Amino acid sequence: MKKLILLLGVILFGMAGCNKPTDNPQPGTTPYELSIPQGFPAMTIPTDNLLTREGVALGRKLYYDPRLHKEGTMACATCHVQQQAFSSSPAVLPHINLGWSRNFLWNGKIQGSLEDVMLFEVEDFFETDMRVLNSDADYRQAFKQVFGSETITSKEVAKALAQFVRTLISGNSKFDRFLRGEVNLTNQEYLGYELFYTERGDCFHCHATAFMTDNLMHNNALDSLPDAGYFAVTGDSLDWGKFKTPTLRNIEYTAPYMHDGRYATLEEVVAFYSTGLEASPTVDPLMKNLHQGGVQLNAEEQAALVAFLKTLSDPDFISNPEYQPDK
Ligand code: HEC
Ligand code: HEC
Repeated sequence: MKKLILLLGVILFGMAGCNKPTDNPQPGTTPYELSIPQGFPAMTIPTDNLLTREGVALGRKLYYDPRLHKEGTMACATCHVQQQAFSSSPAVLPHINLGWSRNFLWNGKIQGSLEDVMLFEVEDFFETDMRVLNSDADYRQAFKQVFGSETITSKEVAKALAQFVRTLISGNSKFDRFLRGEVNLTNQEYLGYELFYTERGDCFHCHATAFMTDNLMHNNALDSLPDAGYFAVTGDSLDWGKFKTPTLRNIEYTAPYMHDGRYATLEEVVAFYSTGLEASPTVDPLMKNLHQGGVQLNAEEQAALVAFLKTLSDPDFISNPEYQPDK
């Protein structure tokens, strides 16, 4: 019962909207107010890692610093490139609206908070040498200011990275502006929009919500002998071939496509969903046209669907100077 009340408290507090932190986590820091696009839900932020201007700036510095890597050879931004919506080739998942996700990596290996996935990146992937960061006086001072810590550990590095990545919000695409009544879609884009959101094209079940993803795991019928996917995490044969539904926001910028980067263009992706589906035991029931190889869109419809997908591009997002390294 106690647990339940606690949980309820957490949920209610979450709903009350943690986007306007009132208390300063550390004296001498300034709260960072996220601007949440219209139509997006509030973002739940852990109370022990409230956003501050200084924390976000520190996270950004780390994101662009190759000294984070044990060999000093690459930064996060080497692969997560802003001009490509913080992705790159092949199959680098983009960093778009991840502050709302709790399911990370193609095979769903990390479930939890952004702090959790960042800790994985720092400790398991980059194997950051903390001595390098601790020997830098600027970093020591910045971590002290933001977290009050005398010694920098991977935990604070992960927290700072999470703060920066929470600010990577994309909600100003042509489609957003259309939904806000600010612009019209062309006839072709509008046809694509209808296809996407009806059973005819049938994309909206998984590429759902304002985030254009349900953030869940599915087998979308790519192969008759699929890669392991989520099975590698759960060991449950029912999870074989399931991968995280990627967001379709900024999809124009994040080629190539799918977990193995097999498709170079959106035309190829749409052709796949039209006629290229392959049966295997775990194909999602939402792939309702599996029996006929796909949704069977004609050439005009396929072109329209691609045109609609391109209305999800947000040029402000890939050029926002706030996301760029300090000069
Ligand atoms: C060598 C290229 C490379 C570098 C450098 C890199 N990443 Fe990635 N990142 C990837 C790839 C590839 C994936 C998808 C891998 C997968 O899911 O198995 C990915 C996925 C992610 C994801 C999951 C996104 C999602 O939607 O689930 C996060 C978070 C992430 N990276 C953060 C980071 C951070 C933080 C750093 C720096 C510490 C970093 N990455 C450095 C290539 C890179
Ligand atoms: C059953 C859920 C489901 C449905 C329905 C669905 N998708 Fe997907 N989509 C996924 C999953 C899961 C992936 C990743 C699969 C992988 O890489 O193995 C994906 C990948 C994609 C990608 C590549 C994204 C990237 O970053 O690489 C695009 C583009 C895409 N889908 C568009 C569509 C369109 C257009 C439709 C409708 C014609 C559609 N999807 C219907 C689940 C779905």
